[in-house]
Amino acid sequence: MLLKDKVALITGASRGMGAAIAREFLRNGATVVVCGSREESALKAVEELKKEDESFKVYGKWPDLSSPEEVSKTVEEVVKEFGKLDIMVNNAGVSEKTPTLEVDPNLFKKVIDLNVNSVFYGCQAAARVMKEQGQGVIINTSSMVSKNGQPSGVAYPASKFAVNGLTISLARELGQYGIRVNAVAPGVMNTDMVKSLPEAMIQPLVQAIPMKRMGEPVDVAMVCVFLASDLASYVSGDIIHVDGGMTV
Ligand SMILES: NC(=O)c1ccc[n+]([C@@H]2O[C@H](COP(=O)([O-])OP(=O)(O)OC[C@H]3O[C@@H](n4cnc5c(N)ncnc54)[C@H](O)[C@@H]3O)[C@@H](O)[C@H]2O)c1
Repeated sequence: MLLKDKVALITGASRGMGAAIAREFLRNGATVVVCGSREESALKAVEELKKEDESFKVYGKWPDLSSPEEVSKTVEEVVKEFGKLDIMVNNAGVSEKTPTLEVDPNLFKKVIDLNVNSVFYGCQAAARVMKEQGQGVIINTSSMVSKNGQPSGVAYPASKFAVNGLTISLARELGQYGIRVNAVAPGVMNTDMVKSLPEAMIQPLVQAIPMKRMGEPVDVAMVCVFLASDLASYVSGDIIHVDGGMTV
């Protein structure tokens, strides 16, 4: 029970890694608000999580993450409903593989809007209440592509390098208020995001992983539990790679 009595808000938690993070937080005693892009998906995620344990304190919200006002309002609602916000996980993200010469500027903007701007809105809204509280933990989801980029789909690594920049800088700015800011950088993970890629693209990726397997969402969720807990009380400004040792 590493997160007993903690209150957490997780974006992109209707499936994939966000849902796994929600599950492990609940198993560790936290109250968890899961955000999905739609009411239906958020409430479905709550229902799924409650199947494991009816007593799990899990609730759904579906803010428009492109709106700083809505993100702020959601954080304020959490504080009103549950008394505080201890942990903010900015996890929602979208992947992109289009070759640069074919990229419509609107596609580039769409990736940056969700993967960078909404992460900033989440960090800012959480930091406002965490500063008042004198404590809090922010975890952002980066990616292994923030090490060396990727050969096609430049918006995605550009967005994740930006997430690292936000994370490291905010750790420096917010540490004085008792707020720790870190990121997890997953490798090739077994979620819808990767399953949607052609098999011919997935197999060479798996072969390039020293551990010769894709990561499971729970692999990342466990690192998030650590980062959110007091076990990591002096860890801030770090990008923790969870990628089976992958170097490309
Ligand atoms: N799957 C991987 O291999 C991998 C690797 C590295 C990093 N990541 C990152 O991990 C995070 C989660 O990815 P995943 O693999 O679980 O993806 P996923 O596609 O399974 O889930 C993405 C989540 O983000 C939410 N989302 C997507 N667009 C949204 C929008 N416009 N507004 C609000 N919510 C939206 C979805 O509802 C969903 O809950 C992302 O930030 C992604 O970039 C994934």
